[in-house]
Amino acid sequence: MTEPMKVLVVGGGGREHALAWKLKQSRRVAQVYVAPGNGGTALDSDLVNVPITDVRALREWAQAHGIALTVVGPEAPLAAGVVDEFRVHGLRIFGPTQAAAQLESSKAFSKAFMQRHGIPTAAYETFSDPAQAHAYVDRVGAPIVVKADGLAAGKGVVVAMTQAEAHEAIDFMLVDTTLGVAHNEGGARVVIESFLQGEEASFIVLCDGKTVTALATSQDHKRLLDADQGPNTGGMGAYSPAPVVTPEVHRRAMEEIILPTVRGMAADGIPYTGFLYAGLMIEPSGAVKTLEFNCRMGDPETQPILMRLQSDLAEVLLAATEQRLDQMTLLWDDRVALGVVVAAHGYPLSPRKGDPITRLPADSAEAVVFHAGTVMKDGQVVTAGGRVLCATALGADLADAQRKAYACVAGVAFDGMQYRRDIGYRALKS
Ligand code: AMP
Ligand code: GLY
Repeated sequence: MTEPMKVLVVGGGGREHALAWKLKQSRRVAQVYVAPGNGGTALDSDLVNVPITDVRALREWAQAHGIALTVVGPEAPLAAGVVDEFRVHGLRIFGPTQAAAQLESSKAFSKAFMQRHGIPTAAYETFSDPAQAHAYVDRVGAPIVVKADGLAAGKGVVVAMTQAEAHEAIDFMLVDTTLGVAHNEGGARVVIESFLQGEEASFIVLCDGKTVTALATSQDHKRLLDADQGPNTGGMGAYSPAPVVTPEVHRRAMEEIILPTVRGMAADGIPYTGFLYAGLMIEPSGAVKTLEFNCRMGDPETQPILMRLQSDLAEVLLAATEQRLDQMTLLWDDRVALGVVVAAHGYPLSPRKGDPITRLPADSAEAVVFHAGTVMKDGQVVTAGGRVLCATALGADLADAQRKAYACVAGVAFDGMQYRRDIGYRALKS
């Protein structure tokens, strides 16, 4: 295929804005569509938003519009089977099938999978009966970690430092239905696992079913407030590379986690294709454990990672859908990229929508404001979700990237905006 292609990005967050921004730079790409996209992809005259989210309707639209390659950003359409739907109809799409996406969509599936294949992770038990879950916490004690089984947009995990917090989390997830998270067969279920200590990193690879290629390393900031205080969020900022992922940690993550996972999925009859993201806990001993799997790129990790990618992403993804990843070498900018998420008032519990964004800095070669929770309304960009923007910049080193990203944030204005002031602090300390 040498004709310039039409490409579709599925999703509407900051990660998808970054994917679309990178794909439109490809010499192989004639047009990038984003479904449903956001205010940022609407503002960009090179991108076209498609207001469809239903998986079948998307497939019909892609067929009718001659889409040559589809890339899926978020977990929800993957868990809903978008890859299966496209493939059954002969459409080229990069991502895991619905069955493979269970590595993320079901904590019980992924924990049992890791245990079965000897992949290092925290010891755990699964419960749907609250009385048994409470009894387990009483027996094991705190600190302990309670996780809702199902997709919860980063809000389904409680790291309980006391038994009381763990009991409260069990009631919240299993008894009250306020979180609204159901596992794949329906109903509420929790995984309770032992508490791990160390430093976290995001380890993201591309899989074509045969070859695994690691992307540049990155680190996210999950807590809402500076110095990693406050509630867990989907991620408040990220940078790449992450110095905590030393060559030795990289080797162990590949050999002990990623490769056994890809081999194990194939052995279980569920071959894995797509992005695979292992949330790593790097323990003080140097051991590397798996906190979770995601069946997609990270958000906001994607934004700094793609700012550093020099290779043609469309070429790489095409190769990945043809099991030709072994022929591709990814080239990375040596500079550091850092992204600061600007969130809405009330995020993460009850983000306010509809605040007009009154100032937005222009993009440059070194700094790009990727949109997430924004829409265009009457010719104006307004907030439409929890994480609103991600100001991402390249710098000669981490301090430089941080300075440039925060200069970019200083050019943003909307009511109630909140952001962390310390993105990158762990790497600056070391
Ligand atoms: P997860 O969605 O499973 O990655 O969990 C979200 C966050 O909770 C992680 O990024 C960690 O900060 C924390 N976490 C999850 N599992 C554990 C664990 N076993 N021990 C300590 N912290 C954890
Ligand atoms: N930033 C974490 C995630 O995408 O799950």
